[in-house]
Amino acid sequence: MHSKQLLDTVGNTPLVRLQKINPFPQIEIYVKLEFFNPSGSIKDRIVKHIIEDAEAKGLLKPGGTIVENTSGNTGAAVAMMAAIKGYKAILTMPDKVSKEKQDALKVFGAEIVVTPTAAPPDSPDHYVNTAKQIAKEIPNSFRINQYDNLKNPEAHYLSTGPEIWKQTNGKVTHFVASGSTGGTVSGVGKYLKEKNPAVQIVMPDPIGSIYYDYFKTGRIEADRVCAYQVEGVGEDHLALAMDFSLIDEMYQFTDEDAFTMARRLAHEEGIFAGGTGGANVWGALKLAKNLEEPAVIVTVIPDNGVKYLSKFYNDEWLKQNNYSLNI
Ligand SMILES: Cc1ncc(COP(=O)(O)O)c(C=O)c1O
Repeated sequence: MHSKQLLDTVGNTPLVRLQKINPFPQIEIYVKLEFFNPSGSIKDRIVKHIIEDAEAKGLLKPGGTIVENTSGNTGAAVAMMAAIKGYKAILTMPDKVSKEKQDALKVFGAEIVVTPTAAPPDSPDHYVNTAKQIAKEIPNSFRINQYDNLKNPEAHYLSTGPEIWKQTNGKVTHFVASGSTGGTVSGVGKYLKEKNPAVQIVMPDPIGSIYYDYFKTGRIEADRVCAYQVEGVGEDHLALAMDFSLIDEMYQFTDEDAFTMARRLAHEEGIFAGGTGGANVWGALKLAKNLEEPAVIVTVIPDNGVKYLSKFYNDEWLKQNNYSLNI
């Protein structure tokens, strides 16, 4: 019997065609189901690539410690891979992160360092600075540094991009992905444009993030940064992993756009997506609406909806937060 190790199951995720949500017969829309990765998200790809590269370069040695500032999917990927490879994992996060999310990382044996959410970015108590300090103090430690580590987009250039090209038999015409570090959209965008320069890259961005204005004007409009509830995309600072030269168009979306589409995906397609999967499919449909020629649009569902059961999948939460969705 052929048996794989768990880490061998990272990537090679299914690509499925939307059946009911897409009303445009001449446009095919495909979603890549990244929650099939073993820790449940697209971040397994980058964490695996970054750790293997650090091992090869001697930056991370047996018995070492992996440090990262994260509460979300990257944290889960680090914690899982540290468990598999016998490293210690230390993850820093602000205290606004739910107990459930903290506990999910502890399941793998990771150590959690909780810092005050109110600590400003220049404070030593800010969760990013805390991670940097820990990495400085602990010998044989390695920080993933997903925002500024170019191995992040490279992971997508080497895996997600080629998989999409192969799974569509080179027929993909558009790729849509919202971004936080920008690793997904930049790495996939670079690969697909190298294979076919006509491929268009579209990035939905939440209202309140700096990316849309920066793309349109080249400026960071600090007074337009505001809070939004979709977790995992949009930013308040520029990340080195984000390559704007690869982006052809950006759309702004609201929490309602993302949450409504995520809920529709579950109801109409049986796909239980996180909020960013909803945002990406919303972007794919907005794009499809404007296209006159036949097209093959691909997007990603970065993670699973289970993590958001107490949020936008919960009717009470929606009411408390003044959302009125038509689903
Ligand atoms: C749920 C979710 N969706 C999308 C993304 C965006 O991916 P990237 O960092 O590659 O831009 C993230 C990143 O943190 C995420 O957690």
